[in-house]
Amino acid sequence: MTLIVTGGAGFIGSNFIFYMRKAHPEDRIVCLDKLTYAGNLSTLAPVMDDPNFRFVKLDICDRAGVFALFEEEKPDVVVNFAAESHVDRSIEDPGIFLQTNILGTATMMDACRTFGNVRYHQVSTDEVYGDLPLDRPDLFFTEETPIHTSSPYSSSKAGADLLVQAYHRTYDLPITISRCSNNYGPYHFPEKLIPLMIANCLNNKPLPVYGEGLNVRDWLYVEDHCKAIDLIVRKGRIGEVYNVGGHNEMRNIDIVKLIIKELGKDESLITYVTDRKGHDLRYAIDPTKIHNELGWLPETKFQDGIKKTIQWYLDNKAWWEEIISGEYQNYYEKMYGNR
Ligand code: NAD
Ligand code: TYD
Repeated sequence: MTLIVTGGAGFIGSNFIFYMRKAHPEDRIVCLDKLTYAGNLSTLAPVMDDPNFRFVKLDICDRAGVFALFEEEKPDVVVNFAAESHVDRSIEDPGIFLQTNILGTATMMDACRTFGNVRYHQVSTDEVYGDLPLDRPDLFFTEETPIHTSSPYSSSKAGADLLVQAYHRTYDLPITISRCSNNYGPYHFPEKLIPLMIANCLNNKPLPVYGEGLNVRDWLYVEDHCKAIDLIVRKGRIGEVYNVGGHNEMRNIDIVKLIIKELGKDESLITYVTDRKGHDLRYAIDPTKIHNELGWLPETKFQDGIKKTIQWYLDNKAWWEEIISGEYQNYYEKMYGNR
């Protein structure tokens, strides 16, 4: 089958493409990505010459461009990763989040219903549920937890989820939604907590911990998320939401200290900075539904995954150093400008 994967030059989308090339080499993958600051085409270099892979530089809000691509490729499935994804940026400037995350989702689904009711999967986030208190470790997000957002980012993702459910109810579009907890692993953009702390540690720069570092996130190795999406796309029940997470809650400060220890640095690098506005306290997923219905379980334990991730950043310094220097943004022009 042919899958259109949006946002495939970003963190999770690229990992998904690599996973799919291995798991289903017979499938054709068309990656559609606008290459915003978060998209890095050099990440996709290993699959660029694969005859079953095509990259198209396109904005998911570009209706004419998206429709033309559907006409040409006749996709069987769309997996929508494309999004503005950084909470701090959404607090600075919400506009582009509404544009890409909500209107872009609508554009992709309009194309799906115009070209034969194409199967559509929305990659969402546990952040649509808001947060949980720190002193109630017995509480978890289930698929029934009401949507209750905190940041412009999570609100835009929640808006998209509601639209996806509306397109199912109104137009009978065959949709599924996954809501995953925080991912970590290779190709994670170094503005997010784990890669930022690794890069700063390696450069002996201060490690900016928001507030007291007591906020809790539920971390999942990115490949486990990719496997869950693959399962949902192939076997998930149409119209359903699936939570994805591996019961791996960690306080930010403990993650930072672990990275410092693994890299043999000193805790004096830690710098407590002003807290994020509206900072969500705790995320924690109950993954019972995807386990019971689809047999999904995370395979990578955090203590192994974080070591693999740190090693990846040590082995691939050029990848993140080019991001920090801004050099990666010239890559597309350099490699594909005349192609
Ligand atoms: P990312 O920021 O690393 O990558 C986003 C990608 O989307 C980039 O390649 C970017 O160029 C592309 N993009 C942005 N706007 C676009 C547009 N208008 N048209 C086409 N492409 C565009 O994000 P990520 O961390 O890989 O997240 C991917 C998806 O997973 C997002 O939808 C996010 O909400 C969701 N998610 C992320 C996490 C996480 O921990 N990172 C957890 C749960 C869900
Ligand atoms: P982040 O990686 O931005 O993911 P999200 O906000 O979507 O969960 O942040 C993870 C946690 O780390 C969050 O509680 C904010 C905190 N944080 C810091 O303390 N310092 C930082 O420099 C960053 C980027 C995040």
